[in-house]
Amino acid sequence: MIVEETKSGVRAWRVGLSGSVGLVPTMGYLHAGHLSLVERARSENDFVAASIFVNPAQFGPAEDLSSYPRNMPGDLGMLEKAGVDLVFTPGPDEVYPVGFDTWVSPGAIAERLEGASRPGHFRGVATVVLKLFNLFSPTRAYFGKKDAQQLRVIRKMVSDLDLPVEIIGMPTLREADGLAMSSRNAYLDASGREAALQLSRALRDAYAQWRAGTRDADLLRRAVEAACAAEPRLALEYVSLADGTTLEEVATLIGETGDTGDIQGAVLSLAARVGRTRLIDNVELPSGETDPAL
Ligand code: PAJ
Repeated sequence: MIVEETKSGVRAWRVGLSGSVGLVPTMGYLHAGHLSLVERARSENDFVAASIFVNPAQFGPAEDLSSYPRNMPGDLGMLEKAGVDLVFTPGPDEVYPVGFDTWVSPGAIAERLEGASRPGHFRGVATVVLKLFNLFSPTRAYFGKKDAQQLRVIRKMVSDLDLPVEIIGMPTLREADGLAMSSRNAYLDASGREAALQLSRALRDAYAQWRAGTRDADLLRRAVEAACAAEPRLALEYVSLADGTTLEEVATLIGETGDTGDIQGAVLSLAARVGRTRLIDNVELPSGETDPAL
């Protein structure tokens, strides 16, 4: 496995390749969720690249950039074992040299939910992801549904800017008890971990209510709120039940499925704090027969 810190090194590697390239962008501190993206990429591309870059541009001034967990040797070992061909591990100055001043500005889809709670977050995400796409010219790029809004912001950028890459969205991997895997789970102590579990429980129970026939979106949102309120160590930031494509809030889920009218499917999502740790989770209410993993 090549470990490459420079953009010129990535370009030189890329021009020599013929065949498909799968790209898995990450911020490191890898877990099985990240590795599921790598495995899928390995299964359907001739070459697989990953990036490990804790992107300062997507962190707000009061956020956890400096404390974000890091484990470069461990990450490299996992990626090598997973069959990655090249991992890009740039420093901040390689990605944002002095004078860097051009940004991707995602529109309405990036303003609500995470975008409202974390102003500028998706501008930072979209900018770094576009830069990675330009460096790697990937055939396919892999993103987790754990970050439901991020996946949609990237899909919209690819569509709006005519980027020649296929975006693959991958299911959320969870711990055995249901907690969504996240690098930020490393911040939780035993008590916080127990409290955080209530988030996936709340989503799972609302999902069951939907399966049982509840179609009033407010009832489902309120069920999640009530379940979270029952855990005093949780501070809920938002609960959303939104159209699966635009992320606009919906009033009613039409028919037997998650259809919200013209658009197929809906997504029930939340953000909450456990102490100083901010966590997000979601479940899809898909249209059609497919059952999401929760
Ligand atoms: P990071 O949080 O490291 O996540 C990297 C990728 O792994 C994202 O696509 C994310 O959705 C996916 N992922 C995280 N937890 C997952 C889980 N439990 N199951 C499945 N996939 C999971 O997301 C980012 O980094 C950054 O914003 C990035 C896209 C790299 C841009 O900086």
